[in-house]
Amino acid sequence: MNITKSKLRAKQSITVLTGAGISAESGVPTFRGSDGLWKNFRPEQLATLEAFQANPHLVWEWYDWRRKLIKPIKPNPAHYALVELEAQTEQFTLITQNIDGLHDKAGSQNVLEIHGNIWKVQCTKCQYLSHNSEVPIQILPTCEQCGGLLRPKVVWFGEVLPEKELETAKFAATHCDLMFIIGTSGLVQPAASLGVAGKQAGAYVVEINIEQTPLSNIADETHIGKASDVLTNLLS
Ligand code: OAD
Repeated sequence: MNITKSKLRAKQSITVLTGAGISAESGVPTFRGSDGLWKNFRPEQLATLEAFQANPHLVWEWYDWRRKLIKPIKPNPAHYALVELEAQTEQFTLITQNIDGLHDKAGSQNVLEIHGNIWKVQCTKCQYLSHNSEVPIQILPTCEQCGGLLRPKVVWFGEVLPEKELETAKFAATHCDLMFIIGTSGLVQPAASLGVAGKQAGAYVVEINIEQTPLSNIADETHIGKASDVLTNLLS
């Protein structure tokens, strides 16, 4: 039995940080790497407040395209493995950078979506927040309360993360015994710093990725492999 398995058996408090890699096996494109979204699209034209203000139509078309792509997609064994892990663990927090809602769809309970959710929209005028699963969405979508322009409730480059979620995520990262970092390149802050904070606070850090990342340097164990294979093996 390796160290992770013995720690898992101890049912200590566990915090998990996930990134696009955990949804890759479901068919959701990642951002970086050879097939990543940022290879073909420029974030500054699509994922900033300035881009939205300059051309909301273009930005909404891009989100509508992603919503169409994500809507029929199902969680994969890695998402379900985390649901099972949560059920076996007294204190469990799942921090995700993903906006696809797949952890929720799989049945995870204590999920912090620190980069938002593609199925939520917020009015740019009155800030009214609502759920919207229309595919295709009306472009440009408007607020049912005040008629203002809606934006996707996701965090764009240059924007701050939702304060409450980030604070709760920091607390979870620095108050756990075991921390998993799964399917993230570890290049985007402050998300990546949560792994470092966890390590500094004394967590045993286990990384799962198909390749080494900058976070491999701080991890106690890095398992190179697909998230579903590694998690299924660790939990068996
Ligand atoms: P990235 O696309 O940067 O990284 C995906 C990571 O997943 C890479 O390290 C891959 O090696 C790994 N990976 C791919 N397939 C995998 C698999 N089957 N199992 C395990 N690992 C796998 O995605 P993120 O790190 O999530 O931000 O990107 C962080 C943020 O950058 C995103 O949330 C998004 C993006 O710009 C915003 O939209 C605010």
